[in-house]
Amino acid sequence: MKLCVALDLPHEKDNISLAKSLKECDVWLKVGLRSFIRDGKNIVSELKNINDSFKIFLDLKLYDIPNTMADAAESIAKLHVEMFNVHASSGKIAMKTVKDRLSGLKNPPIVLSVTALTSFDDNEFRAVYNESVAKKTLQFAKDSFESGLDGVVCSVHESLMIKNCTNSSFITLTPGIRPFGNEQKDDQKRVADIKTAHENKCDFIVVGRPIYQAKKPLDAVRKILETLL
Ligand code: C5P
Repeated sequence: MKLCVALDLPHEKDNISLAKSLKECDVWLKVGLRSFIRDGKNIVSELKNINDSFKIFLDLKLYDIPNTMADAAESIAKLHVEMFNVHASSGKIAMKTVKDRLSGLKNPPIVLSVTALTSFDDNEFRAVYNESVAKKTLQFAKDSFESGLDGVVCSVHESLMIKNCTNSSFITLTPGIRPFGNEQKDDQKRVADIKTAHENKCDFIVVGRPIYQAKKPLDAVRKILETLL
């Protein structure tokens, strides 16, 4: 299991300082919408300049018509990020078009799809998708698998079920992690700790606030990494 640290801080310089403090750590860094819109695409090379073995997950959650998504995916690949994501609700044709567009590249990035956002509870999810989180998530995961995607973003509680219905090598990346179970949930509704993430065979855990709001983020990351060995 890999740790992906969410760089969700309010200023670029804060994200850069956080990344610098984690320079020696074997972590992935998640660049989200806020940072990408505010700081621009150069944020990727700035992070790689700190440590070129940092792997970058560009969490832009693409959702558009197939050709526009594939155009965006091609531009993302040119940034040399290792992973990015799209919404599974964009549909199988869009996801397949994205994968097809990247298929000729030498080192194409990993493409994941977002199933159900971990901030949804069942009632809110039903109001949008007219289906339970569990049922729709499974459908989205199967659609993504059949479209040739590499994996999904899902909650820890869905990871095992998704692997059972697709393939054990189909990646699950799980936000909503409160590493030791005693932290604040914030706006996340479906949270889990690291032990549960292990039990559910998650490939990546994404952790934001429990790291960057900790008094000593490096200590928090070290403590998490020890449990991943
Ligand atoms: O601070 P926290 O650990 O809750 O951060 C979780 C990160 O994962 C945030 O950057 C959030 O945007 C992202 N995320 C999520 N749920 C998803 C997809 C991404 O929380 N389904």
